[in-house]
Amino acid sequence: MRTEDVVASKIGHPPHTTTTAAATKSCASALSPGRYAGGGTGFIGTALTQLLKARGHEVMLVSRKPGPDRITWDELDTSGLPHCDAAVNLAGENILNPIRRWNESFQKEVLNSRLETTQILARAINKAPQPPQAWVLVTGVGVVLGREGGAIRHMLLPFRLGLGGPIGPGHQFFPWIHIRDLAGILAHAVEASHVQGVLNGVAPASATTNAEFAKAFGAALGRPAFIPLPSMVVQAVFGRERAIMLLEGQKVVPRRTLATGYQYSFPELGAALKEVVA
Ligand SMILES: NC(=O)c1ccc[n+]([C@@H]2O[C@H](COP(=O)([O-])OP(=O)(O)OC[C@H]3O[C@@H](n4cnc5c(N)ncnc54)[C@H](OP(=O)(O)O)[C@@H]3O)[C@@H](O)[C@H]2O)c1
Repeated sequence: MRTEDVVASKIGHPPHTTTTAAATKSCASALSPGRYAGGGTGFIGTALTQLLKARGHEVMLVSRKPGPDRITWDELDTSGLPHCDAAVNLAGENILNPIRRWNESFQKEVLNSRLETTQILARAINKAPQPPQAWVLVTGVGVVLGREGGAIRHMLLPFRLGLGGPIGPGHQFFPWIHIRDLAGILAHAVEASHVQGVLNGVAPASATTNAEFAKAFGAALGRPAFIPLPSMVVQAVFGRERAIMLLEGQKVVPRRTLATGYQYSFPELGAALKEVVA
């Protein structure tokens, strides 16, 4: 399983990696006007928007649909990027959408939704008379814990009913992060001028196995969590290739994230899960 990464690079020095999030030179002022968040209407984007607004930023979203305080990708491509201090791209078709078959057309959609939005943003930044100082991109597969979306939304009902348990073998690593910390790391990448390169968006205690995660989730809800979800069921729902994301894990440590000075609100799994289910 790949984790949630934040990649940061300075303007003029493109991200040296193609992983998940990229921030060019980050903004210094917390009160500077106009930030743009592509895909800001989603689970992570909403949390980031709330955090940035609470810190005094103005936020303008880029979306496929027109609406108040937002522009569309087409408008961005044709009219260019209005003055802003940072651009954050969180757009992307949900790779683990259980109602979509993992066929060629869906794979293209998943890829293109990220590539095309990133290309439009990159073009707009290149053409902007005053380019933003920071550029942050997010991608990857990890588990982001929050009440409003992500994996927890799908897991909550079976676990509340006492029907939850480990996925497949259960010994695979299950990197996780609380949504408030992921938004916090993104805001940190945008605001702190020294942040550059790839940051792993996982909690410091994220060397958790899936079975440990299931046990902690059950404990947070006061329910048993012993009933395993067989690998064959996961493969049947998601397809063999996508199921790998859930059935195989990776131990990920946020060494650089901590080294840049980010301080976690939810470093421990138990407290993070209690907040999510409260
Ligand atoms: N949530 C997680 O647990 C998690 C974990 C790891 C990585 N990530 C990555 O983080 C990013 C944001 O995640 P999220 O949970 O906030 O996702 P989300 O709630 O599904 O929101 C993603 C946003 O992307 C836009 N979008 C969706 N399909 C699109 C398409 N085909 N073309 C262009 N735009 C499209 C939508 O905005 P509009 O409808 O306004 O256009 C949507 O609000 C994604 O790249 C995701 O892969 C998320």
